Amino acid sequence: MKRKEITTVTVIGAGDMGHGIAQAALLGGLIVHLYDTNNTSLQRGVDKINESLEILHRKGKIKAEEMQFCKTNLHPTLNFQEAIESSPFIFEAVPEIVELKRNLYSDMEKIASRNTIFASNTSNMKISEITKDLQYKDRVVGAHFFNPVVLMKLVEVIRGDETSDETMEITYDLCLKMNKTPVRVEKDSPSFIVNRINAPLRVFLGAIVDNEIAQPEEIDALMKFHGEPMGHFELADYVGLDVTYYSCQYRQQVLHQDYIPYKKLTEKVNSGELGKKAGKGFYDWSVGRPNIDV
Ligand code: 3HC
Repeated sequence: MKRKEITTVTVIGAGDMGHGIAQAALLGGLIVHLYDTNNTSLQRGVDKINESLEILHRKGKIKAEEMQFCKTNLHPTLNFQEAIESSPFIFEAVPEIVELKRNLYSDMEKIASRNTIFASNTSNMKISEITKDLQYKDRVVGAHFFNPVVLMKLVEVIRGDETSDETMEITYDLCLKMNKTPVRVEKDSPSFIVNRINAPLRVFLGAIVDNEIAQPEEIDALMKFHGEPMGHFELADYVGLDVTYYSCQYRQQVLHQDYIPYKKLTEKVNSGELGKKAGKGFYDWSVGRPNIDV
């Protein structure tokens, strides 16, 4: 049986990741309904998409008509019912708080058609934790994008304990259509592949900074010297220290006590210094990317 061809998607959450997923879907030729709970976030997401399209056009990476096609096919909305009811495929990109996700999925299940696929951009959560209260778990999958979505090709397509083969394959094909490089993660486990591999390193880097053995900028300069595009602390600022904090907290609960958020990270999050999105984290972002000399 020919797999369902997806031509329209909904993205729930217009933040850093949500707006990027929406843009990737637009660039893949899809019609996109972008939903957020408040107009400020929604408009910020739309502005970021338009700014990025302008950069791509200015650099000759997309033609004027492609840019116009994307702008025409983007439908921002504050109406949850409208965003969900007729969509065949929904990307969820809300904060990494399990209760928030569970409530959202229950609300989506009440409105969406039975065949609609729900794809979570969760950074670390087991899909089966998100689907705990759902009646239909076979249509829920992980689609973990990387920040910034417009530039990072990788997507982890994660099978939950009850995700169907069809859901996996439709999601995998959709990521290809969005010009991404999907990899299948066939077992529902915390942090999947990339974040699971990087997790231990973050514990040790946090300990170095907490014990004042070295400063974030020294560690980052060393990592860049060894070829990383960004060091750990710049990257944590870039994706958001709240995201990093929630990831550590989750791994500490489900994997190992040692994954506890390190002291300096906790201090930053408690003081609202969340990194690039707040203008300050381990670095000052108020005048653009920090200049970390190698
Ligand atoms: N839209 C379109 N193009 C953009 C853009 C945008 N918003 N921002 C930058 N670009 C383009 C630039 O124009 C430039 O194009 P060019 O190469 O043709 O000149 C290119 O992208 C590179 O941008 P910059 O020159 O500004 O900066 P860098 O060369 O330093 O690249 C970066 C920026 C791609 C972010 C690089 O620093 C990098 O790869 N950092 C690491 C990112 C990473 O590891 N992400 C994963 C984080 S973990 C994660 O997301 C998991 C989650 O669970 C938390």
